[in-house]
Amino acid sequence: MTIAATQTFLGPAWDELPDVTVLESWPPREQLPGVEVLLEAVVPVGPDELRLLPDLQLVGNYGVGYDNVDVAACGERGIAVTNTPGVLDAAVAELTLALMLACRRQLVASDRFVRDARWRTGWSQPEQLGHDLAGATLGLVGMGRIGSEVARRAEAFGMQVVHHRRSDGLPLNKLLRVSDVVSLHVPLTPETQGLLSRERLAQLRDGATLVNTARGAIVDERALVDELVSGRISAGLDVFADEPRVPERLLDLPNVVLTPHIASATVETRAAMTRVLVDNVLAFLRGEPLSNEVST
Ligand code: 8YV
Repeated sequence: MTIAATQTFLGPAWDELPDVTVLESWPPREQLPGVEVLLEAVVPVGPDELRLLPDLQLVGNYGVGYDNVDVAACGERGIAVTNTPGVLDAAVAELTLALMLACRRQLVASDRFVRDARWRTGWSQPEQLGHDLAGATLGLVGMGRIGSEVARRAEAFGMQVVHHRRSDGLPLNKLLRVSDVVSLHVPLTPETQGLLSRERLAQLRDGATLVNTARGAIVDERALVDELVSGRISAGLDVFADEPRVPERLLDLPNVVLTPHIASATVETRAAMTRVLVDNVLAFLRGEPLSNEVST
């Protein structure tokens, strides 16, 4: 059994795997016969890549979102796909709150103000004036495991939480109109791609904040950049449509806080994700049922 990985993964569970070949490049430069298990994070795994792995039986995706993996193409070849749900909800919710606070309380601009030695008077300038989270309305698009963790934390800050999901909650357009802060917590699927279209973004209140720790392509990124350049809204963005490319027009804007897809990036959470990833592989090697198998 050959296990290949696009990188090593953090935490003690990693050492429980038998020999792992860490690939020098992705996609591989040539066919890799004999590789039966592929462990990967946020790299494309589609028909072209699968052709290079003729003996593949399992793709272990390090992350809860698996939009990078063509699960249908895997299914056609009888390749199982697993993900790592349930262990990163708190970490993602924490970064979501951090981005909310950073945007609403001008955290990054204020830090820059101090570092630039522009703090000369006794009290700060209008540019540091923010908005309370307390009393503000938070609109959650998606109310699964991560959305619920965000809701709990936001309520502790005194926010009024409303949500939209397929089965209940507010219609999306209404949520966008009534929220001071909107945060996205849906997976990227054909249904959610471009969900926050130009027309929908225009429904956001003047001065509203959009937080995205889900996937960049859920939003029409060009339309979002136009709104942000106009200064009408602010945004905390951890994810982008074409990572690691970040639209250049965002880089100098004071109303945007940018992070490089770090929502699950804590020592504890990454180790827990590795535990789940490795458990999936160990179950596969023993011929046991996979607890986190995903399907189309
Ligand atoms: C990444 C994520 O997978 O879980 C997800 O869906 O986006 C993240 O946890 C992780 O950063 C891999 O590098």
